[in-house]
Amino acid sequence: MNKPQKRKILVAGNWKMNGNLALIDSMSQTFATQDFKHVDVVVCPPAVYLSSFNEPDFAIGAQNVSHLDGGAYTGEVSISMLSELPVKYVIVGHSERREYFNESNELIAEKVYKILECGLTPIFCIGESEQIRESGKLFGFLAEQLDAVINRIGIQAFNQLIVAYEPIWAIGTGKTATPEQAQEVHHFIREHLAGHDANTASGVRILYGGSVNAASASALFSQPDVDGGLVGGASLKPTEFVNICLAAE
Ligand code: G3P
Repeated sequence: MNKPQKRKILVAGNWKMNGNLALIDSMSQTFATQDFKHVDVVVCPPAVYLSSFNEPDFAIGAQNVSHLDGGAYTGEVSISMLSELPVKYVIVGHSERREYFNESNELIAEKVYKILECGLTPIFCIGESEQIRESGKLFGFLAEQLDAVINRIGIQAFNQLIVAYEPIWAIGTGKTATPEQAQEVHHFIREHLAGHDANTASGVRILYGGSVNAASASALFSQPDVDGGLVGGASLKPTEFVNICLAAE
């Protein structure tokens, strides 16, 4: 039986609360010298910079969005506001939002719904702490995170979103998951979704995030169920980030 066609690799850079206009210029100039054909590149700057790119050679993503439609919510940004900007993707459910801003599985599912309703693409983050992994509850924990979206919207949502598996113990630590660790969890995610719809599970892109760099990218991206990366620190360095993307080209 033919090996199923691998899904197109996507590499997204999550700047978090970092960056400035100079980095936007430098990133744009670095990517202007490239012509990626086999990888989708996304840059997710802080919200204040979403309109600061001048026809970049990559797509733009937001790092968060409110589940509310508008009103007296100081500091929040609605999905309709994002839809007026050159934004195609929205990161949702990042572990830092779950931890520091108390975002529950249910709230995140609501945000996924809002993003899909507006025609943008969620990059839906899931991932466990070291404690969960060592407790033997890893797959049950991840299934709960996935099921919150399935229960709210249905499995078909996964035809229009991207999943990002980000083990918390690998985020910002320099302790990248091994390709085998990443593949094991990505395969579980795909199998869990296949229990609802095999075609959807086969087509959904699952990114790995957690200390991805140019040295580790190729081995990670070559795993059968790893469809790219969600990159933090390394995405703030234009040459390093372009080399991560080249690892997939
Ligand atoms: O969203 C990506 C981020 O959580 C990974 O960060 O610095 O470990 O690549 P980093």
